[in-house]
Amino acid sequence: MIDLQPTDKTHDEGRQGEALILDSPLKRNGKKLYIESYGCQMNFADSEIVASILKDDGFETTADYKEADVVFINTCSIRENAEQRVRNRLSQFGAEKRRNPKLIVGVLGCMAERLKSKFLEEEKLVDVVVGPDAYRDLPQLLNQVEDGHKAINVLLSREETYADISPVRLNGNGITAFISIMRGCDNMCSFCVVPFTRGRERSRDPHSILAEAHDLVDKGYKEVTLLGQNVDSYKWKSADADEDAAIEVNFAQLLEKVALVSSDLRIRFSTSHPKDITNEVLYTIAKYDNICNYIHLPVQSGSSRVLELMNRTYTREWYINRIDAVRKIIPNCAISSDIIAGFCSETEEEHQETLSMMDYVGYDFAFTFSYSERPGTLAARKLPDDISPEIKKRRLSEILVKQQEWSLRRLQESVGKSVRILVEGVSKKSDKDYCGRSDQNAMVVFPATEKIKPGQYVNVIIERCTSATLLGRIAD
Ligand code: SAH
Ligand code: SF4
Ligand code: F3S
Repeated sequence: MIDLQPTDKTHDEGRQGEALILDSPLKRNGKKLYIESYGCQMNFADSEIVASILKDDGFETTADYKEADVVFINTCSIRENAEQRVRNRLSQFGAEKRRNPKLIVGVLGCMAERLKSKFLEEEKLVDVVVGPDAYRDLPQLLNQVEDGHKAINVLLSREETYADISPVRLNGNGITAFISIMRGCDNMCSFCVVPFTRGRERSRDPHSILAEAHDLVDKGYKEVTLLGQNVDSYKWKSADADEDAAIEVNFAQLLEKVALVSSDLRIRFSTSHPKDITNEVLYTIAKYDNICNYIHLPVQSGSSRVLELMNRTYTREWYINRIDAVRKIIPNCAISSDIIAGFCSETEEEHQETLSMMDYVGYDFAFTFSYSERPGTLAARKLPDDISPEIKKRRLSEILVKQQEWSLRRLQESVGKSVRILVEGVSKKSDKDYCGRSDQNAMVVFPATEKIKPGQYVNVIIERCTSATLLGRIAD
């Protein structure tokens, strides 16, 4: 079990004993928090940290914003349309606030960090704005709001990893969970807003990561995904006064430690960076059966010139070398990618290089995006966003079509085979079917039987597939 380090305020109350904690007027017992998350998995993991901090402050969570006392929206700034979705959602909360003027509306996460106090000026209904490193301050900020003030904390930190906070698992299936292993990003890809919204990279103490993994196993979880913007640069060093005695842990070593927590626990991780993924990491994946054979290795572009403009710090050849290493060391490894269409000055030939890279790798899956200029990034300051929306759209659709072909081909390779999956629960489309993921992260759907329970590993014979899902039946 992880020791819960109380926030400063509850720390004082804690010394006075449990009964006082429960009765404390400072606590908001019975108040309800609704929290909605956008963006990457890290943002979803952060919402679970927020829920934990506010649980210590007496809040319970609710899945219905109409019954909430506090509504938080944990936001993403990665592309313009991500921000637009948040603004649309905020206007819906505005309607609720007109009905219930006591409702507190808060904006958390990357958009809060990017826009800071501008949010309070632009969106009058917002009461509190909190950046990703300031969540411990939430109880105090809510006090300010209850006293009739607007409240904001968008300070970024070089140390905060929320290592001691035990996340409250939200909307979980009780089987798969995220574990944040680091925060921030030091890479400065020229298109990307994350270094500005999440601050400097810092790695979380491995002891607390392992404690969280053990705790999840004790609670019956069967899969963890280790999260960071660039997991391969995970590096933790013990603060030992004697330099020689200090212990260093890199990502490969961390992966191994988590894999050893339980052979029944599957390990996934995201995101890997092509410049940093080492053979040591690949050998560690190959060595442990419970580390999934799946790597998300975003290429962004297949052209070395565009990659240089993107400041990705690798070339097409380097990326191909990494793919070759994956194929050699982990022959059965699924690989997925992120791809941006129409980055500044991208020519037709360079776009073709992206398509040919897709053919070289044969990705199992890819997230594909049109380039969206983000204020304040290196690209926004130095490079004109000169590819027209029509061309971006056409290039994106060519990338999409190619990816669908590859996804289908990759899934077809499993037809007729037996695939081991972890049952996650009933399928979204039919409650007569169960769904779960293969080691390679493919979604598998099969008819539910009484013998099988979510959380079990089962072998499924694959009978057919779509471009997104494998369909089959339980092997006898
Ligand atoms: N840390 C991860 C990615 C985080 S953001 C990595 O380095 O791979 C997720 C993806 O969003 C990126 O990989 C990129 O493909 C996309 N993205 C980021 N900024 C973007 C922008 N300005 N326009 C379009 N896509 C963008
Ligand atoms: Fe953004 Fe690049 Fe960092 Fe990923 S590695 S979060 S794309 S700056
Ligand atoms: Fe979005 Fe922030 Fe994640 S910008 S993608 S929520 S780090």
